Amino acid sequence: MQPRLPVGNVPEWLRSSAGDVVLRRPRPEDVAALASHVGTEAGWLSAPEGLLADPVGLLDEYQAGWQGAPNRLGLSLVVADPVTDRLAGMVHLSRLGDDGGLWVSYGIAPELRGRRIAQRALQLVCAWALSSGGYLQVLLDIPVDNAVGQRVAERTGFRRIRRDRIVVKKPTKQRHESWIYARP
Ligand SMILES: CC(C)(COP(=O)(O)OP(=O)(O)OC[C@H]1O[C@@H](n2cnc3c(N)ncnc32)[C@H](O)[C@@H]1OP(=O)(O)O)[C@@H](O)C(=O)NCCC(=O)NCCS
Repeated sequence: MQPRLPVGNVPEWLRSSAGDVVLRRPRPEDVAALASHVGTEAGWLSAPEGLLADPVGLLDEYQAGWQGAPNRLGLSLVVADPVTDRLAGMVHLSRLGDDGGLWVSYGIAPELRGRRIAQRALQLVCAWALSSGGYLQVLLDIPVDNAVGQRVAERTGFRRIRRDRIVVKKPTKQRHESWIYARP
């Protein structure tokens, strides 16, 4: 289990200065948007397999970190449309080690991709984390074959710091190779 982020340190709500993206805690109203996605191309939701068809359970998973429960995803923030408040994506924040870094992952709903929502959301996380959040760096772990995820990182000012290889699953010993990105 990952070391927990102090919940009180992370704001309930962040809005970019241009007003073009909002990050906020997950709410019961998000179940409708989640229900329209679970089960279909759901990788971006970071849902454990058992929750792929269960939007209420998935919302519980996203809210667990905020309630202080040990949670695989850390603290989850909804990337919300600044006008309608509808869930457009997710950002997950965790602290994996004593490197003074905040680890971030992100996903955007398939029908909303290509509008630079991920770049704006990541920029907003970095602006908070590296100033009032008090983190020394923001870190990303992006699979080597994920060109779009890497593009988002590079467009947001991240640089590759190393290549990682971990064996994820027994008994297949499937390998996961990724680039670790940092933004100081
Ligand atoms: C990665 C992801 C978050 C991107 O979301 P998005 O809102 O569409 O991203 P943006 O619009 O901000 O930026 C996408 C960039 O990739 C570029 N791009 C699109 N398709 C591409 C491709 N096949 N190869 C390389 N770059 C590509 C876009 O042109 C854009 O770059 P630009 O601003 O220089 O034009 C989204 O595809 C997703 O949720 N994927 C699944 C989860 C994931 O991979 N997360 C990242 C790892 S944590």
